[in-house]
Amino acid sequence: MKITYLVFIALWIFGCTVSKNKQIEPGKILPDNNGIHINAHGAGFLYHKGMYYMFGEHKIEGKKGNSAQVGVHCYSSENLIDWKDEGIALKVIEGNSDHPITKGCVLERPKVIYNQRTKQFVMWFHLELKGQGYKAAQTGLAVSQSITGPYSYVKSLRPNAGHWPINFSEEQKKKEYDYSINRWSEEGREAVVSGMFVKRDLKGGQMSRDMTLFVDDDAKAYHIAASEENGTLHIRELADDYLDFTGKYVRVFPEESNEAPAIFKRHGKYYMISSGCTGWKPNPARSAMAQNIMGPWEALGNPCRGTEEQVKTTFHSQSTYVIPVHGKEDAFIYCGDRWRPENAIDGRYVWLPIEFEGDKPIIKWYDKWNLSQLDN
Ligand code: DGJ
Repeated sequence: MKITYLVFIALWIFGCTVSKNKQIEPGKILPDNNGIHINAHGAGFLYHKGMYYMFGEHKIEGKKGNSAQVGVHCYSSENLIDWKDEGIALKVIEGNSDHPITKGCVLERPKVIYNQRTKQFVMWFHLELKGQGYKAAQTGLAVSQSITGPYSYVKSLRPNAGHWPINFSEEQKKKEYDYSINRWSEEGREAVVSGMFVKRDLKGGQMSRDMTLFVDDDAKAYHIAASEENGTLHIRELADDYLDFTGKYVRVFPEESNEAPAIFKRHGKYYMISSGCTGWKPNPARSAMAQNIMGPWEALGNPCRGTEEQVKTTFHSQSTYVIPVHGKEDAFIYCGDRWRPENAIDGRYVWLPIEFEGDKPIIKWYDKWNLSQLDN
């Protein structure tokens, strides 16, 4: 009995040491506990009761995998190194083509947060209705009592119908537009900056595509999404139960075409990493900082350091999330997707440590790196 116990302890210590020394290899196959490449693209992460949970788009082989054929896949890990397959947290609906999350819709960038008050896990995602390309520009909601699911679909919508952004002037509200204007002409761009699409979509709700969620220290949650035909980010306050929008939102970087927002907080300041809009192809990342999540936001430029190619392509990736590492001060991991639209399932994950030059977040390439690199 005693020997079995000692062997067990020895194996456990050995296992911990092996994991501690395991390295993160950005862009390489990331195997789960079954040795299968993790299938959770455009992922979000949630730290809950000592475990990290990863939620992302489950892709299938080929181009068909760019639309949702299965749903949202969940994995868990104690150490951000060893990931256990927890199965499909939210399934697309089969056999009902009228359902908003019917198989074949586009369901991207799922993010899950936990509501302390209601004890509910709340998932928001980007939803495009089947057969409509990227026209619907909605955000969808699903909830569960259990972190790994199953999540039940609640609704999908364009947020904040009837509400003006809080950083919109009376003059902007009154402005009239010719909606047939070429959006990319000089006048078109000016119209977009001044809020042409906000006004157009006021009644039906604001467009919402690439998205993330952020929960602040006071438990208030925010939904941050590419809006206004992908020209402008909206940062939207969520209701206390996280199941709705309060109507309070701001426009950030009008007509600067930010996608793939990821938010984190350090030393009381808010940071954002985002990308430009070039479909599945990578482009130079952007970074920004704010004293208040509702702005004003100050652009800090491209956070990447390296060769011209690396800086131009964000190490061939597009941001999806920044993980605050639990138990370490000032430790953040940039998580990006290296999309493979020709064979969606083979998309790779580019995870790199975030370093700081003063107040500026910096991302450098490492072929392999260890979490201890984040120790200060
Ligand atoms: C870039 C977005 O960031 C992705 O989530 C996806 O929507 C692709 N565009 C589709 O082209």
